[in-house]
Amino acid sequence: MPKLTEDAVSVQALGQTPTPVYAAPLPPASRRALAHIPGGDGWPILGHTLPLLADPKGFVERRAQRHGLIYWSRAFGYRNVSLLGPEANELVLLDAQRIFSSGLGWDVILGRLFPRGLMLLDFDEHRLHRRALSVAFKSGPMQSYLAELNAAIARGIAHWPRGREVKFYPLIKQLTLDLAATAFLGGELGAELEPVKAAFIAMLAASIAVIRVPLPGTRMGRGVKGRAQLLDYFDRQIPLRRERGGEDLFSHLCRATWDDGSLLSNADILNHMIFLMLAAHDTLTSSLTSLVYRLAQHPEWQEKVCAELGGLGLAASEPLPFERVDDLPVTEMAFKEAMRMAPPVPSIPRRAMCDFEFAGYRFPAGTGVNINPLYTHYMPEIWPEPDRYDPTRFALEASRTRHKFAYVPFGGGAHMCLGLNFAYMQAKCFSWHFVNKVRVSIAPDYRPEWRMWPIPFPRDGLSVTLNPV
Ligand code: HEM
Repeated sequence: MPKLTEDAVSVQALGQTPTPVYAAPLPPASRRALAHIPGGDGWPILGHTLPLLADPKGFVERRAQRHGLIYWSRAFGYRNVSLLGPEANELVLLDAQRIFSSGLGWDVILGRLFPRGLMLLDFDEHRLHRRALSVAFKSGPMQSYLAELNAAIARGIAHWPRGREVKFYPLIKQLTLDLAATAFLGGELGAELEPVKAAFIAMLAASIAVIRVPLPGTRMGRGVKGRAQLLDYFDRQIPLRRERGGEDLFSHLCRATWDDGSLLSNADILNHMIFLMLAAHDTLTSSLTSLVYRLAQHPEWQEKVCAELGGLGLAASEPLPFERVDDLPVTEMAFKEAMRMAPPVPSIPRRAMCDFEFAGYRFPAGTGVNINPLYTHYMPEIWPEPDRYDPTRFALEASRTRHKFAYVPFGGGAHMCLGLNFAYMQAKCFSWHFVNKVRVSIAPDYRPEWRMWPIPFPRDGLSVTLNPV
């Protein structure tokens, strides 16, 4: 497989500065415009959709084997150039020259149900919104979220069956939904939360539906209805939240302001709130499932995590204090390695807003571009024996010498995950309560099959046994 040289990073944006976004329709790059780049359209009509769906990781690896780290393909009716490896990740995520639109990249997948979520905004507008939202992720609010997380996780795990085989994925999916509801909306809502959760579940299912038109009786139809219900609920809540205060994420957003001190509009709050719930829920469900699977598969690491958490000197019934979240390097390494092997966002789409050059190729404005954390996380030249679970890869020294964009579960640059610290905090809080209550095991010869795209999850739900401590 050809390697990218240092020169690959010296990208050149051609033509004028890109228009901020959506100013004019930007036609996708034609087959002819991509003809000089390795790759092809695949089968008539379907392109590469079926092989990509059947084995997303293998598909990209086979293409890279054949064409190298830059190739194009066609799936779901769209042509996309894949730019693989850390240099490409740096180019696209850092986007120093403002070439790549995140909004136009994600719009195809999320635009209908999650319009104007933070990830769907670009450039100056995105920067303003991101700054306004950031107040909800500062240390004060994070402490309040942790209090809610501690209570809800302890409550949730207490009800999980012990001593017999159970499917882990549905359990954690339900728990992360409850956590999103309590930390994001406030713990005291009770029965009022149920229709909100149901509407949100309908939207989640629709976000990955194959039929993208909201016909009655389809997932997309139910998703669009769910969105309308959520908008209605949140809209009624905004004045109440502003009046009574509150430390949940939604209440913080209701009080968030622009640089000039004016409040965000209701429409902005609604769009951000719904997107934040999406951004947090499936990613945490996936990454915590990966973590538990790896700890079950590697009891020696489970013991190391237990020892570290035990070393905090807290009683098992106590909540994990906010001040101790950063004292858990082993737990963090175990979580990072689980996300290396199954990054919750395995590929990241963009659209080029102007012509650009990379690694000796010229790409026209409008080109759909994909970078691929999943592929990068398994490159053997960066991660020796990439199929082996080894959290020591994230020891300080090893991380220091690695390319900054070799590990990108949270993306990077202007759109880097805004909830990164929230995610680590929730993973550690979960680990604390989990190992205090149970030890997890799996059958010795059990190798569950993972579907790696659009979000990794074990196809069979992951059979584990939770043994009481
Ligand atoms: C393990 C958990 C998570 C993972 C792996 C993850 C991953 C990512 C990635 C890869 C992106 C960037 C996508 C791109 O550049 O196109 C992103 C963006 C984002 N994430 Fe996360 N995420 C996680 C949890 C969360 C949580 C818990 C929240 C909120 C509480 C959150 C909120 C966001 C937001 C708002 C953005 C958009 C940022 C922007 O466009 O400026 N994420 N996330």
